[in-house]
Amino acid sequence: MTLFPEMFEPVLSSSIIGKAIENGIINVKLFNIRDYTNDKHKKVDDYTYGGGAGMLMQAQPIYDCHRAILDEIGDTSIRTVYVTPQGSLFKQKTAESLAQTGNIILLCGHYEGIDERVLEEIVTDNISIGDYVLTGGELPAMVMMDCISRLVPGVLSNEESAQTESFDDGLLEYPQYTRPEVWKSKSVPEVLLSGHHANIAKWREEMSLLRTKERRPDLYENYCAKNARNEGEKAQNIDKNT
Ligand code: ADE
Repeated sequence: MTLFPEMFEPVLSSSIIGKAIENGIINVKLFNIRDYTNDKHKKVDDYTYGGGAGMLMQAQPIYDCHRAILDEIGDTSIRTVYVTPQGSLFKQKTAESLAQTGNIILLCGHYEGIDERVLEEIVTDNISIGDYVLTGGELPAMVMMDCISRLVPGVLSNEESAQTESFDDGLLEYPQYTRPEVWKSKSVPEVLLSGHHANIAKWREEMSLLRTKERRPDLYENYCAKNARNEGEKAQNIDKNT
């Protein structure tokens, strides 16, 4: 649900998502909220009660647009996600949960936001893509669509899916290299040319840890805490069984 459906078209017709839609693996339908306004001038926004800068999207067009979608898909248990900086943070886990729900409605705000009363009526989840403010929910909605879609079976080829596991363990991905073997006097790390799979796996794990520690100390701390817990639980189980 958006006032700017044209923003989505280049994204939905390109690359992996474009192919998935073409092959009918995922299906996206854009609803222009403006098509549902009762106002004869097609107005969808108005001034904010209590004052303040900017315009607010009105309840009626959004509510009627939402009703039309529910009628069309005949699924009243569907989740309606309001894409907003006032939401909980979108993470890989959020995408995994949404990828399992079937149909999803994404509601994109624009201007200063949306009348709270319609949000109370229709929204099941409030989600933000990060602690910064964009001009509208369209780009965040596309970020979510991309991230959720690549988890739908068949969207990625097997080769691509194999590379998706990395964020699951809460670590950043290790560095990767392709041909040529030497570029600007920089060689590919020796171990990657060795063909020794165990050593390669060990090197990659170490690089993941190092990179996470340097670039995302918050993730690194969580990882260490979780692993310490797991180790503790393992030790307890061993104690119990002996
Ligand atoms: N709309 C504007 N900024 C946003 C953000 N960071 N996340 C989600 N929706 C938004």
